[in-house]
Amino acid sequence: MLQIDVITLFPEMIENAASFGVLGQALKSDLLKVFSHTPREFAQDRHRTVDDRPFGGGDGMIMLAEPLEKTIQKVQHKNSKVIYMSPQGEVLSDMKARALAKEEHLVIICGRYGGIDQRIINNYVDEEISIGDYVLSGGELGALVVIDAVSRMVPGVLGHSESANQDSFSEGLLEQPNFTRPRQYLGAEVPEVLLGGNHKLMADWKKKVSALVTLVKRPDLFQAYLEEENLKYRSLKKKKTEAPLKELQKFWNNLSLQDRKVLGLEELSEEDFNG
Ligand SMILES: C[S@@+](CC[C@H](N)C(=O)[O-])C[C@H]1O[C@@H](n2cnc3c(N)ncnc32)[C@H](O)[C@@H]1O
Repeated sequence: MLQIDVITLFPEMIENAASFGVLGQALKSDLLKVFSHTPREFAQDRHRTVDDRPFGGGDGMIMLAEPLEKTIQKVQHKNSKVIYMSPQGEVLSDMKARALAKEEHLVIICGRYGGIDQRIINNYVDEEISIGDYVLSGGELGALVVIDAVSRMVPGVLGHSESANQDSFSEGLLEQPNFTRPRQYLGAEVPEVLLGGNHKLMADWKKKVSALVTLVKRPDLFQAYLEEENLKYRSLKKKKTEAPLKELQKFWNNLSLQDRKVLGLEELSEEDFNG
């Protein structure tokens, strides 16, 4: 079981938002527990003050070290990983979410105002995590993003054991487009191959469409994927197949114009396969 303790001035934000959907269901099981704690509990004065002006001046207030330290000490144990949500941290990725899901206990500190006293970071924080290169007014939305992404990677949380492995990023690629009934809608038809029952054919088709979609939408990810595929290809003793990019080009050439359009691949051209 993974336990996550969130340190926040707004515990209701975490509790309410975490109660919906897949995450809400997971919290009813024994696979995942999320608790929230407020540093106000350890504030020293009758106003329950948890912030003060920064030394040296500057805009905004800074969260006081002592109430934060006491809250961390209340929840931390020897197997805890302490995370501070921060725009200065490593940007959250699929790989990071998978790694965090293997931990036993996460403590997530949400900053507010101008942030937290640096000495808390120096003494207690194992990792700073950002959810992107922009500044939020508090760490709670970031913490919820981390909790949601991590919970999906905890074995048993997703109904179908394979689901997370079919999602975007799991193999370095974006997921292929999906369709449901009806077969024809908005003047477009679902690709024929998805209607047949040939699972191997469908799996191979989906993988190739995934690669093409990634080439269109995220050339940076595609480049990294291609480098890995090329390495695997070079290590093959008997080269029965084409080089990865050539094989993909062939697949794209054989797609009907109608399928290219419904898959969002019509803007690809021969040039995209030249290196
Ligand atoms: C207004 S921000 C403080 C920003 C800080 N003064 C700085 O420039 O690095 C308040 C809090 O929001 C959270 N936060 C802001 N942007 C974030 C991001 N991109 N990812 C994760 N947390 C963020 C952090 O917990 C931060 O302490």
